[in-house]
Amino acid sequence: MAGYQVINYPRNAQQSWNVKKKVYVKSYGCQMNAYDAERMADVLAPEGFIETQSAEDADLIVLNTCHIREKAAEKVYSELGRLRVMKDERRAAGGDATIVVAGCVAQAEGTEILRRAPAVDLVVGPQNYHNLPSLLAKAKHAPVVDTEFPIEDKFDHLPAPSREKILSRGVSAFLTIQEGCDKFCTFCVVPYTRGAEISRSVAKILGEAERLASAGVREFTLIGQNVNAYHGEGLDGKTWSLGRLMHRLAEVPGIARLRYMTSHPRDMDDELIAAHRDLPALMPYLHLPVQSGSDTILAAMNRKHTSDEYRRIIERTRAARPDIALSSDFIVGFPGETDADFEDTMRLVHEIGFASAYSFKYSPRPGTPAAEMTTQVPEDVKSARLAALQEALDDSRNNFNRAAVGQTFDVLVERKGRVDGQMAGRSPYLQAVQFDDDTVAIGDIVSVEITRTGTNSLFGKRVGEPMTAEKPPSIGANAA
Ligand code: 5AD
Ligand code: SF4
Repeated sequence: MAGYQVINYPRNAQQSWNVKKKVYVKSYGCQMNAYDAERMADVLAPEGFIETQSAEDADLIVLNTCHIREKAAEKVYSELGRLRVMKDERRAAGGDATIVVAGCVAQAEGTEILRRAPAVDLVVGPQNYHNLPSLLAKAKHAPVVDTEFPIEDKFDHLPAPSREKILSRGVSAFLTIQEGCDKFCTFCVVPYTRGAEISRSVAKILGEAERLASAGVREFTLIGQNVNAYHGEGLDGKTWSLGRLMHRLAEVPGIARLRYMTSHPRDMDDELIAAHRDLPALMPYLHLPVQSGSDTILAAMNRKHTSDEYRRIIERTRAARPDIALSSDFIVGFPGETDADFEDTMRLVHEIGFASAYSFKYSPRPGTPAAEMTTQVPEDVKSARLAALQEALDDSRNNFNRAAVGQTFDVLVERKGRVDGQMAGRSPYLQAVQFDDDTVAIGDIVSVEITRTGTNSLFGKRVGEPMTAEKPPSIGANAA
């Protein structure tokens, strides 16, 4: 590939007019990718890059990709096809664009991306994006691939975002506390793309949490591929669990709410379940993927638990926090899944009553054991099962939301509503809530009486005075 300029502007023009370069980061997939995308923007900010929301006016385009299912990975190649045309047109007009593929497709496919999409300048894995400035400098001369798992911790090299940046991202923030996975479910690419489980130390997490909170963040969602397997170095030098970490984070001034995702049933330990009972800041919401209700399929998936063990974990968590809302992930059409196996999944859904859920058709992923299984389920069977499951999950969610009418919830105000005079936020159970009142501030926690349900939101009216960061709220006091 010929050498090219990273920016469209002549060097001296940039110096004399202080022209900023623009970066567009498009993120696919999970919350971890959304978090990484923000951190990439933070790494590029000191290099003079400002963020833009469209590829068309960006000098640098970063696709932060997801490899979890085939559809997600293929989306990247079709986007790269469009970007190639754009880059060619710009070059014909004397300009240029730099294209970066980051995230899990980058990690899994590496140089294959350059073969399939030669317009790409840089392929960078999830553990290496803190080096974006130097990698971009190298990529000026020839395409670069960096998918090593470095010894150093990328978090030590990531610059802190400015207060303005933190606030522009909202009062609810993701905070990565753990990365990678050692579970090796037979369908999943994560242990290969994100590597072995590592936990950040409590001191480093607290440092980031305090910085975010002092800029106005009021809610953290602690994220990790296997977040409840957290076992980081504590402030006393001993290993702390997620439950212990959350008790400390709840003491950070300004922080009113804590959430965490995604969890594995095997790691729901007593301390974590007790935190749901004892820690008012920990929201009554648990995303705990079960994947299937059939013990045969759970074994073939290498989930290392049975459906009854899952039921018991839910019972114990509900005993600790009776109003807890449950969410899960499901895969239909895993190799060997029979009608009877699928019925076991449907039974579990009806028994537990999920407030929300994600469900997917099994997608064979290269390099995973399940992709090699000879008992693959036909596509039409997968589609029919997914439709039936989604209908049941929709009913379950609608029932949960309908039960909210007439109740009063604490709502963390996150933004203005769609209509003038309306504000929008989330209930403790992660439901989107809109209410008519523009006297309250973003970041306040207000009591809202729910009057009706809409397609994607609950609607209500404010009752009582807002609780600001200075007057810490008693979260959960109004819970169902
Ligand atoms: N096919 C379909 N769904 C998958 N998931 C992970 N791997 C696959 C796959 N190969 C789903 C699981 C997981 C969620 C993040 O994505 O349900 O919990
Ligand atoms: Fe993938 Fe989650 Fe299983 Fe780990 S626990 S292998 S991330 S599905």
